[in-house]
Amino acid sequence: MDLQLKGKRALVTGSNSGIGKGIAKMLADEGVSVVLHGRNAERLEAVRAEFAAAGRTVAAAQGDLSTDEGAAKVADAALAAFGGIDILVNNAGGGSEEKAVNWFDVALTEWLATYEKNVLAAARLIHRFAPTMKEQQWGRIIQIGSMAGTIPTSAQPDYGTAKAAMLNMTMSLSKNLKGSGVTVNMVTPGMIMTEGLVEFLTNFAAKRGWEGIDQAAEYVLKGTGQTVLRIGQPEDIAFAVTYLSSPRADFVNGVNMHLDGGGTANIY
Ligand SMILES: NC(=O)c1ccc[n+]([C@@H]2O[C@H](COP(=O)([O-])OP(=O)(O)OC[C@H]3O[C@@H](n4cnc5c(N)ncnc54)[C@H](OP(=O)(O)O)[C@@H]3O)[C@@H](O)[C@H]2O)c1
Repeated sequence: MDLQLKGKRALVTGSNSGIGKGIAKMLADEGVSVVLHGRNAERLEAVRAEFAAAGRTVAAAQGDLSTDEGAAKVADAALAAFGGIDILVNNAGGGSEEKAVNWFDVALTEWLATYEKNVLAAARLIHRFAPTMKEQQWGRIIQIGSMAGTIPTSAQPDYGTAKAAMLNMTMSLSKNLKGSGVTVNMVTPGMIMTEGLVEFLTNFAAKRGWEGIDQAAEYVLKGTGQTVLRIGQPEDIAFAVTYLSSPRADFVNGVNMHLDGGGTANIY
């Protein structure tokens, strides 16, 4: 099927690793000109060079989205790369850098930092790109959420509430852009195999004296309630983002797609 994405221009934030890299790769393979992004310049250049060598049309925009200046620098570079942005994927983000998980161990400064790099990072880029998308009467804004945003746990309150705020922002913006040709959706991943998850599973296994990460992965997987009994891959998320990016998804607006191996199959 032709997803009609050829010639579109995308910015995928946080695409120098993990899920974002998988999304950028798939969009580029569909003929999208992709602006890659990350804070770590070395890893960003490595991904850019790898993708360019494989014949993909890519550029790089480096910067910290936690500040107005950093986000403006990223947006300027993204616009300069291909003359505009039609698809914005707000994937950059994550939990506290301090890795504090206990509710009361998360300092208020960390709450702020987590909101800056998830909620405000997305809002900054939306402010920058949505007006032009509206003018051209076509655009896609896709936000990457987390199960922590919809299934609160007793830990990492900064992260769960930030992702919940991004979900609310997604729905609210989809209503504000009514009839504009710009759709706004969220994709919510379950447990996805990225460097961060490998690090988590390695620590989890080490604490229990387990060899490698397989036993830890099996243990953690059982706790998720998943009915698809494997850990997700970045491609699992990339397929959904690529579909939502396509003109074929014109009728899809204000949804939150849970891609979590069935971990949230519930009726409320
Ligand atoms: N992996 C999972 O199981 C999972 C599950 C649910 C949701 N998610 C969400 O999926 C997204 C991607 O996560 P991932 O697992 O692929 O993690 P990852 O490999 O650690 O990637 C995170 C990306 O975000 C960038 N980033 C972080 N803070 C930033 C900031 N202040 N400014 C600019 N860029 C920043 C990082 O850039 P640098 O490395 O260069 O700093 C990196 O490219 C995140 O929003 C995460 O919350 C992941």
